[in-house]
Amino acid sequence: MVRISAPGKVHLIGEHAVVYGEPAILAAVGLRMSVEAEKSDSIRVTGSKIHNDIEWDVQETKEFAKNIEKLWEESDRTKDFSKLFSRVKGGIFKKAIIGTALNEFGIDSGITLNMQSDIPTSSGLGSSSAVAAIIIKAIADAYGISALLEKVNEITYKCEQYVHGNPSGGDNTAVVHGGIVWFERNLDGGANRIETLQREIPHKLHGFVLAYIKRPEKSTGELVSMVRETDPSVRDPAIKAIGEAARKMRSALRERDSEKIKSLINTAWENLRIFGLSVPEADDLIAKIRESGGAAKLCGACGGGMMLAYHENPETIKNIIKEAGFSPMEVELGVEGIRKE
Ligand code: PMV
Repeated sequence: MVRISAPGKVHLIGEHAVVYGEPAILAAVGLRMSVEAEKSDSIRVTGSKIHNDIEWDVQETKEFAKNIEKLWEESDRTKDFSKLFSRVKGGIFKKAIIGTALNEFGIDSGITLNMQSDIPTSSGLGSSSAVAAIIIKAIADAYGISALLEKVNEITYKCEQYVHGNPSGGDNTAVVHGGIVWFERNLDGGANRIETLQREIPHKLHGFVLAYIKRPEKSTGELVSMVRETDPSVRDPAIKAIGEAARKMRSALRERDSEKIKSLINTAWENLRIFGLSVPEADDLIAKIRESGGAAKLCGACGGGMMLAYHENPETIKNIIKEAGFSPMEVELGVEGIRKE
């Protein structure tokens, strides 16, 4: 039996703008998802919090994954992912991941997977990347295939496309590589710029607090489309401003410049809000956090999900979050990426 785990991720800054080639800084968070895997004749998935135990036939699952790949290609051509998104949900996403991994590694047999997760789903913490990455690595390891992290990341990205359409690739990179990641998407299809910032930022990031606001009504793919459909005269300057804030954030984190970190988070959030990515609950709480001298924004696709707040004295914002009826979480940032347990 093999056991693999991977962390969730949080965008310290740069979500949405990263889709347009601007930089994002992501940190792997200390909430993990894990899987125990064993070779088998059929495919069995147990332990999920979002669906019942499931069993599929190997050949049918491999065929299913090929059809999903075709549907993605067709959706990408027509720029309409709605049919794909309505098909690949919950347990079915796992079927697409397993089938894709078996096809990619040339395996003609099955797998038993027992899942366990501390990462809340649909919260902007990259749970879809984590689930894909651990299943892919677990299948490779169970069959004795030595897959490089780059290969695991590449297949994880392919699976991310099935639920997010045309994602930047930042989420899967942070989950697989871990640490603090500078990510810039190459819009011409070449290699993305990925830098791990551990050496540049060796200190523990302190003062960041997470709080879950509410379940987003729209999926990541739908929220990304909402930004894309915004008039370019509004969209493009906001995207550029978020990118600029991300560039400045790199030195602010390095220099532990709290004032700069706060002002850059607030700038990023003001520009994300332009796209209608907030919810009233977040607006009220973020306003209170800012009044206390802190900064906050929603994370990832936004529209609800997780809020990331920052204050050099985190107790201040933890109290504000509690008083507003939410649960503050001070999680470790920059943790190890995917690993064998
Ligand atoms: O909400 P999540 O964890 O799926 O993050 C999405 C991040 C976006 O920048 C909005 C999209 C992307 O592909 O990078």
